[in-house]
Amino acid sequence: MKTILVTGGAGFIGSNFVYYELKKYKDLRVVCLDSLTYAGNLETLKEAMANPNFRFVKGDITDRKAVYSLFEEEKFDFVVNFAAESHVDRSIDEPEVFLKTNILGTQVLLDAAKKFGNIRYHQVSTDEVYGDLPLNRPDLFFTEETPIHTSSPYSASKASADLLVMAYYRTYGLPVTISRCSNNYGPYHFPEKLIPLMIANALAEKSLPVYGDGKNVRDWLYVEDHCKAIDMILENGRVGEVYNIGGHNEKTNLEVVKTVLRILGKSESLISFVKDRPGHDMRYAIDPTKIRNELGWYPETSFDEGIEKTVKWFLENKPWWENIINGEYVKYYEKMYSKR
Ligand code: NAD
Ligand code: TYD
Repeated sequence: MKTILVTGGAGFIGSNFVYYELKKYKDLRVVCLDSLTYAGNLETLKEAMANPNFRFVKGDITDRKAVYSLFEEEKFDFVVNFAAESHVDRSIDEPEVFLKTNILGTQVLLDAAKKFGNIRYHQVSTDEVYGDLPLNRPDLFFTEETPIHTSSPYSASKASADLLVMAYYRTYGLPVTISRCSNNYGPYHFPEKLIPLMIANALAEKSLPVYGDGKNVRDWLYVEDHCKAIDMILENGRVGEVYNIGGHNEKTNLEVVKTVLRILGKSESLISFVKDRPGHDMRYAIDPTKIRNELGWYPETSFDEGIEKTVKWFLENKPWWENIINGEYVKYYEKMYSKR
């Protein structure tokens, strides 16, 4: 039986990946290492906990001693690193923890993979490392050759981690891959991010804070399609390679917000244009040709279908997100939005 380490598996994409792997492989042991920051939630892993092939370990990826002892104990075949500080707005407010977790944490995991040997390492990165594209050039897309050109402390920390991963490949021959995905959405998305925040606010008839003029474009991908891509990269990806993941689903923020309102049957008068995010990236758009041609990956869920499913999930799982937004999150919301 092979064993995979999923770091950050109590967060949004990591937990979806845990479920994806447990469902797909009956002969795979899945170990989740997560320090349970504000974004990590054990409630999310409740069903996984009942599976004998799953183990949860509370721990910090920057804690070298704890990470080494887990690697010694478990003898991992694969490591997939999702653990990160992931919210751009928080990185603008307090960058330091982004550097610590996203860069130093990655280095600890790389060192552990090197020390304990025979481990295939995958780094979950983001299209944000490429910076942004202008709105008036719809012909331009991010390819794996697009230069790194970061805007926020978040994207700078993710890009730094990517550079380290490639350095460990070149210098120590560590078998690594990197994926750079566009914006995800779906079940267990933390309510600080655009889509779940707008769903929660619309249901409460609260105003929907759209930054700037709402014309910024994101390339949305249903989270399960991201999980499928990572699984394919682990199986058949070439080591030392970067794979972009995205499904040509570009939407302006305003389009996304209006779609959410339409599905929920709420009025567009709830939309409120607020002060823009500093350094706000204009457009992200992925060219997925490489992963499609090499690995046969393509997105299965269209935006229309995925957003309906997502809104339905949030309606059916109110206790999950209401618990979050009624806790510590109240202070966060107040700090970020009250004077905006
Ligand atoms: P998330 O914020 O929902 O979850 C992050 C998880 O990591 C949480 O469970 C948190 O407790 C854990 N964590 C944070 N610091 C840790 C530490 N020091 N040690 C151990 N665990 C720690 O994030 P997400 O949206 O699921 O993103 C997961 C990964 O995917 C990140 O690396 C992110 O950069 C990348 N990514 C996200 C998106 C997106 O749209 N959300 C798109 C592309 C790439
Ligand atoms: P977000 O979900 O934070 O993801 P990212 O910054 O990684 O793309 O934001 C998605 C887009 O939505 C981004 O252009 C910022 C915008 N946005 C708002 O307009 N209002 C909000 O309250 C939030 C959280 C985001």
